[in-house]
Amino acid sequence: MKILLIGATGTIGSNVYDRLQQNHEIIRAGRNGADVQVDITDETSIRHMYEHTGNVDAVINASGSAGFAQLTEMTPDKNETAVNSKLKGQINLVLLGLPYVTDGGSFTLTSGVMMDDPIPQGASAAMANGGIRSFVTSAAIEMPRGIRINNVSPSLLEESSERIGHLFAGFQPVPGDRVAMAYQKSVEGSQTGQIYKVY
Ligand SMILES: NC(=O)c1ccc[n+]([C@@H]2O[C@H](COP(=O)([O-])OP(=O)(O)OC[C@H]3O[C@@H](n4cnc5c(N)ncnc54)[C@H](OP(=O)(O)O)[C@@H]3O)[C@@H](O)[C@H]2O)c1
Repeated sequence: MKILLIGATGTIGSNVYDRLQQNHEIIRAGRNGADVQVDITDETSIRHMYEHTGNVDAVINASGSAGFAQLTEMTPDKNETAVNSKLKGQINLVLLGLPYVTDGGSFTLTSGVMMDDPIPQGASAAMANGGIRSFVTSAAIEMPRGIRINNVSPSLLEESSERIGHLFAGFQPVPGDRVAMAYQKSVEGSQTGQIYKVY
């Protein structure tokens, strides 16, 4: 398959790349140093990415940012990061990408454990994650041409423990390759409308 992987250089994206590149052609996308440049917060940039790649069999998004702050310190402005990136950015990848995905192809989006298991400072990110979950469940029943859509919700990755583990006290980190397997299931399998929880 020809797979467009956004966020390919990241912690999750590089695990997904390592697993899927063995059997597929992967186009790596991101803001810097990838095969094709994209900023998912910018609609024009997403349009240019798809014009550049042409048709693909699968789109995987492993990117998306959110602001972390205590609720009393969260501002409308800080909340915009998650709205524009994790939420709208991912949804726009689907809305603008549909014409470029081949019949029976797939989209795989990324949410995260904190939508089910709250952590301090995580309300804005959780809001976006929950929005992605609901979008995927709902969009799946209307996808044209047999196109599938799923969502991977990882817990804290082992590889991210040093950087953000302090925010996830008492969480059992999961190996990146186990998370990558959920993306593989979404792309290579037949399911749609699923939330793959890797907790
Ligand atoms: N790591 C975890 O433990 C974990 C757990 C659950 C959920 N998640 C979620 O999974 C997603 C990826 O996490 P991660 O830890 O792998 O992140 P990461 O290591 O920071 O990597 C992010 C990747 O996305 C790209 N990127 C960032 N902003 C972008 C944008 N606006 N447009 C296009 N590409 C962009 C980055 O490359 P460039 O900088 O070159 O653009 C990079 O390749 C995030 O939404 C995160 O919340 C992560």
